[in-house]
Amino acid sequence: MSKKISIEPAARVKDLPPYLFATIDRMKTEAVGKGIDLIDLSIGDPDTPTPKHIVEAMRKAVREPAHHKYPSYAGMLSFRQAVADWYRKRFDVSLDPKTEVVSLIGSKEGIGHMPLAFINPGEYVLVPSPGYPVYPVATLFAGGRSHIMPLLEKNNYLPDLNAVPDRVLKKAKMMFVNYPNNPTAAGADRAFYKGLIEFASKNNILICHDAAYSEVYYDDERPLSFLQIPGAKDVGIEFHSLSKTYNMTGWRIGFAVGNKDAVAGLGKIKTNLDSGIFQAIQEAGIEALKTDDRVLAKIRNMYQGRRDALYDGLRNLGLEVNKPKATFYLWVKCPKGYSSMEFTTHLLNEAGILTTPGNGFGAPGEGYVRFALTVPVKRIKEAVARMGKVL
Ligand SMILES: Cc1ncc(COP(=O)(O)O)c(C=O)c1O
Repeated sequence: MSKKISIEPAARVKDLPPYLFATIDRMKTEAVGKGIDLIDLSIGDPDTPTPKHIVEAMRKAVREPAHHKYPSYAGMLSFRQAVADWYRKRFDVSLDPKTEVVSLIGSKEGIGHMPLAFINPGEYVLVPSPGYPVYPVATLFAGGRSHIMPLLEKNNYLPDLNAVPDRVLKKAKMMFVNYPNNPTAAGADRAFYKGLIEFASKNNILICHDAAYSEVYYDDERPLSFLQIPGAKDVGIEFHSLSKTYNMTGWRIGFAVGNKDAVAGLGKIKTNLDSGIFQAIQEAGIEALKTDDRVLAKIRNMYQGRRDALYDGLRNLGLEVNKPKATFYLWVKCPKGYSSMEFTTHLLNEAGILTTPGNGFGAPGEGYVRFALTVPVKRIKEAVARMGKVL
């Protein structure tokens, strides 16, 4: 007779905070179970489908037996070339597709593996907060330590590089940066990136710039790539995603570009842990990167209409919020007397509106909630009307 063994999670897993969106999912399921007509403004998952020409490219590619085999680890050269062509066209940056581009199973995968490639136990990673939760978790998994860089309104939600203590700098090896920013919707300008490159160069810190939202912008103000700034390739790598730009969150495709050593290090981890992206998806990715800008302009206009409706609505209700220039998020200050979680719960229970509490992105996010623009204008207006009755 065998005896049931006790299966004990590793300490690194026990130490994990609950994954924010799993908690939100539970709140959502409970609300829907109670029959509430929920307006879900919590998660940054585009609600409109992947453009048709991309789906068609996938249909064609999936029939091709050559695509049914193990893909190459770094990604098909034709995909990496399409990335280099896109970078040249969009940012006027040259990349060698063989050594400066690696494909990813979504940018989350690459971001998650980055500390594993470069961080030794006890070394520091500089992590912006509030921020994408994967940065500190990936650091923890690699045995590294996160040094939190608060993103505060008074600094335009940019990290204060001078505030990092010397004792941390001595052991700091990597830094995550993310503009256009999730969750604050803030942007970064040329001067910030210039200072960042000087800081990285002086302190020998590898910059990991997460540019997942670079193509979700408004009023024709196109965000910069970190790689457009001279010296960037000496100190860093940039992560991109096809998820938000082309409504492809479920497809799992992204890429990282920039410094050769950083690309090679990430590639080494991937070679040992995964086997690349299904080639048919890479073929669809090539087609996506060639998308006519008019198709993307239509998507951007749709978000802009939603942004304006929600921004105007919230301001009319007396809430404090900045008008985002990019991303599909609004970072909204909680009314006096409410914590992030209290305001989130109030909106859910009293108005059937689900948002994300700001502190879920890190302690400096306390006092804010994040609204995502992933429902049509009609529902946004309905949400504003409902809020008007409970604020
Ligand atoms: C800031 C940021 N980076 C990266 C990602 C990951 O996107 P994906 O793995 O779909 O490319 C997300 C997803 O929400 C995000 O918000």
